[in-house]
Amino acid sequence: MSTSSLTAPATPLSDDEVRRLREDFPILASTVNGHPLAYLDSGATSQRPFAVLDAEREFATTFNSAVHRGAHTLAAEATELFEDARATVARFIGADDDEIVWTSNATEALNLVAYSLSNASIGRGGAAAEPLRLRAGDEIVTTEMEHHANLIPWQELAARTGATLRVIPLDDDGALRLDTLAEHITDRAKLVAVTHVSNVLGVINPVERVIARAREVGALVMLDACQSAPHLPLDVRALDVDFAVLSGHKMLGPTGVGALYGRRELLEIMPPFLTGGSMITTVTTTEAEYMAPPQRFEAGTQRVSQAIALAAAVDYLTEIGMPRIAAHEAQLGARLLDGLGAIDGVRVLGAGIALPRVGLASFDVAGIHSHDVGQFLDDRGIAVRVGHHCAQPLHRRLGVTSSTRASTYLYTTDAEVDAVIDGVAAAIDFFGARS
Ligand SMILES: Cc1ncc(COP(=O)(O)O)c(C=O)c1O
Repeated sequence: MSTSSLTAPATPLSDDEVRRLREDFPILASTVNGHPLAYLDSGATSQRPFAVLDAEREFATTFNSAVHRGAHTLAAEATELFEDARATVARFIGADDDEIVWTSNATEALNLVAYSLSNASIGRGGAAAEPLRLRAGDEIVTTEMEHHANLIPWQELAARTGATLRVIPLDDDGALRLDTLAEHITDRAKLVAVTHVSNVLGVINPVERVIARAREVGALVMLDACQSAPHLPLDVRALDVDFAVLSGHKMLGPTGVGALYGRRELLEIMPPFLTGGSMITTVTTTEAEYMAPPQRFEAGTQRVSQAIALAAAVDYLTEIGMPRIAAHEAQLGARLLDGLGAIDGVRVLGAGIALPRVGLASFDVAGIHSHDVGQFLDDRGIAVRVGHHCAQPLHRRLGVTSSTRASTYLYTTDAEVDAVIDGVAAAIDFFGARS
């Protein structure tokens, strides 16, 4: 069972509410190629409401200064806002303030953990970090469904440490083969990295099952929450994960900011990834002592205005209510799946998977390359993503090299979903691809 399905059913947003909240997003009033913009690419990057844009501007115009350094008033105010932002993001996912590390994006957060573990593996972090050490014979486990950001850092970690990377396979529909968990997550496993929501299939994985197996064998768990945190209620403590990563720009925030959640006891023993200023207590010309987390992992000047704007995004989402956002998007997702699935020649990837979903679907149109589908839709003002969506192994498993992805958010309307469905049907007629 997924976390979202454990929460009581919430009332989806009404058409009026969606209409009103769209006014908060200036870009949604744009026209593209002579048509009103229909933005169905929030899975790649979401749009920002005035509250987020204003928070970044207000910081720049009123408080801009370096955090955790200056002795002047402005620096103290900036530091307070920066740390308040951390607390806001922590609360949003059920963590404590000092368990949130700011990063540039989710990719950096995943690499931070991978490099910290490999540093522990060469003795950095001393005896305290010994439990994190990986060596030949140890295993890192991920899945065939992952975004490359939750795959390649583990490939590299395995190569650096001599550990073996194991991959939980998918079935013919694209679902995780949960029947193979015991085979792939053995007592050699040190870390299991899994995505909460697939960025290609939109399915909400039953990660509780994967986490339970990891716990049985004493492995750490990394949850890629990039596609879940923006769309579902998320509680890292209730899920019992050790690490989770978030991407600010996918949850109404700015680019250039992401976050790593790390369980405090782990962050405390992890050696740093990036080193330099702002993460040390004492430095000599030959060695340095590192600060406690989270500062130990925040070397150099931080992305302050972006972190503050991300907190404004989190406040905006919280005010609407994540259960209601999830309910709205579940409806949009079902509409998308039904509409696309009813078109001859369209194969929605993962359509046969019996799991709850967010409002995202990727599809293959027989006889038309995804780039042509995307361009045809763009001519109608509809923005979708085309390509492999940084998930080549998943596409390969499903026998396609690319797909077209439509992804919704709280501001997406039924009419926009229908525009995608009608546009795809029209593309098939236009390219003469109807069988
Ligand atoms: C599931 C998933 N994981 C990780 C990432 C990487 O996020 P970022 O590019 O913000 O680092 C993405 C972005 O598309 C994603 O969808």
